[in-house]
Amino acid sequence: MSISVSALVDDTAQAIQKKISFAPRIGVVLGSGLGAFGDSIENLQKVSYAELPHLPASKVVGHAGNFCFGMVGGVPVACMQGRVHLYEGHSVASVVHGVRTMARLGVSAVLITNAAGGLEPSWSAGDLMLVVDHLNLTHVSPLTGLNEEAMGPRFPDMTHAYDPGLQSALRDVAAKEKIEIREGIYAALLGPSYETPAEVRMLRGLGAHAVGMSTVLETIALRHMGVKVGALSCITNLAAGISGEKLDHAEVEATARRKRDDLLKLLRGWIVAADAA
Ligand code: HPA
Repeated sequence: MSISVSALVDDTAQAIQKKISFAPRIGVVLGSGLGAFGDSIENLQKVSYAELPHLPASKVVGHAGNFCFGMVGGVPVACMQGRVHLYEGHSVASVVHGVRTMARLGVSAVLITNAAGGLEPSWSAGDLMLVVDHLNLTHVSPLTGLNEEAMGPRFPDMTHAYDPGLQSALRDVAAKEKIEIREGIYAALLGPSYETPAEVRMLRGLGAHAVGMSTVLETIALRHMGVKVGALSCITNLAAGISGEKLDHAEVEATARRKRDDLLKLLRGWIVAADAA
């Protein structure tokens, strides 16, 4: 008999509980080039994925492989410094194992960040986008196979995949910090090649505003478990064919690093607001 997903998630959560002395209330996932936030956490306790069962480490530059536990503005948090992607050859279950573990540790909300290509010609590299909905174009789901009722329902509702309360909380934080944010729909593709200009035209036709290679599977797994999700994209480049420039990962990382201070401020405020919600 195969071991249930729920049992594997319990294994990882229990290994973490042996190492940390508090229960995190908010979870955070840090995307490409955004890992620095993890090191700014107070009373930081780092646990490398390698020390934990069932958590593969990402080999992608810019993605460390640690859970960071500690306090942000008085809120106990669990923060994933680096994630694994489908395109690295990991199973869908591995891709979402980290967020499922945070859910099992008891967080009420997870705030996800990512690097994304902008699909709007009037946008610029460095813009920040609040994700209001998504298109799952990875052609897979973390929920296929026998449903485990202990994890969540067979057919989870996705009407409010990105929690409306968390969305308004981020708008308020951005206004207070005087940081301009855009809003839009995030389309996730498998990658790892960037899109062709024809694919970018298709995505625009489908109503997407940004494109990336992460986030949506994590969101589906978290909504399945009843955890609220907020997501914020750093538009690290305009998608292929829009500006005419060639895309490369070094540029993606450099833009995310350039926006680090704004992202840090937004995330701090968002964590505190999410905890109060
Ligand atoms: N496409 C897909 N994923 C990305 C991009 C992009 O242009 N930029 C950063 N992640």
